Amino acid sequence: MPSYTLYRWRATNVRELLRTRTVPIPTGDRPRRLRANPHLRELVRETRLHPAQLVAPIFVVSGRGRREDIRSLKGHARLSPDLAVAEAERLAGLGVGGVLLFGIPDSKDGRGEGAADETGPVPETLRRLKAAKLPLALAADVCLCEYTTHGHCGVLDGDRIDNDATLPLLADAAIAYAEAGADVVAPSAMMDGQVAALRAGLDAAGFHGTAIIAYASKHASVLYGPFREAAGSTPGFGDRKSYQMDPANGREAMRELDLDASEGADILMVKPAITSLDLLAQARQRFDVPLAAYQVSGEAAMIEAAAERGWIDRRGAVLESLTSIARAGAHVIVTYFAADAAAWLNER
Ligand code: PBG
Ligand code: ZN
Repeated sequence: MPSYTLYRWRATNVRELLRTRTVPIPTGDRPRRLRANPHLRELVRETRLHPAQLVAPIFVVSGRGRREDIRSLKGHARLSPDLAVAEAERLAGLGVGGVLLFGIPDSKDGRGEGAADETGPVPETLRRLKAAKLPLALAADVCLCEYTTHGHCGVLDGDRIDNDATLPLLADAAIAYAEAGADVVAPSAMMDGQVAALRAGLDAAGFHGTAIIAYASKHASVLYGPFREAAGSTPGFGDRKSYQMDPANGREAMRELDLDASEGADILMVKPAITSLDLLAQARQRFDVPLAAYQVSGEAAMIEAAAERGWIDRRGAVLESLTSIARAGAHVIVTYFAADAAAWLNER
């Protein structure tokens, strides 16, 4: 039979089957009723993003009036503390909930001592932000990789990353940031016991009120590439697989989240976001602390690159990805699109 005739035959027969109710026409269950117009869709929308739940990463360097565009992260730059405050003012004006600071020091050493330097760009920016009294939660990433010559997140013992020798250095850095005004510190080194070490150090230094957002489930992902270019923190040898988790492991992720919760994490974070939606959904059932997700640099880069080629609608892709991350269970979302997303959400 020629294909057009075949099509006619099929169409006629399906019509006949429907008419005779051999195939039932849905009566009660027609989900399309609630999709009929924008007002109905708005009414029954289950997940609503709000600018206040978004956190914007900011990269800070020393100096004044210094701005270095980051090639791999469109719209982002390494900023000196004065310009970082100006950027934070812009974000606060858009209703963004918080900022997460990453420091890039002038010089690095084998032990990443610069992470705890109270004259470094992160404490300097925190002091200025605190003084500016902006309506923003102030968070600082706590890790050594931006501060070590070898680019690993911990100190070395030969070519091994020494877990326990790293813990006091991370705690020192957290205390320096708390002292400078951080509301939240965010340990991202994936050292065992890092949350307990930070909590003990902060409490001993009198910072009982400084919260910890734990990068609890952090996979050894290829999606951190653009960040490492921004922060100059690509490992000089090897990779991060001896401390970051195998992306294949989900039960191990729950174990990491359990451990960080029991060590005293106030917020549990999962990253990358779009590759961890199953983990967010599981964690939502399991924990009652706020959950965060980090839409990492590679996730942003994929959207930017496709949008630049005209292969994807940028605004749609950003809002759809953020909404999906929230739907999966994240309440707080760290995203390089915080400013754009907040502006779009404010329009509606
Ligand atoms: C530092 C840190 C990284 C990220 C957050 N904190 C880099 C890494 O672990 O290599 C990744 C963020 C991103 O890709 O946007 N440990
Ligand atoms: Zn690190």
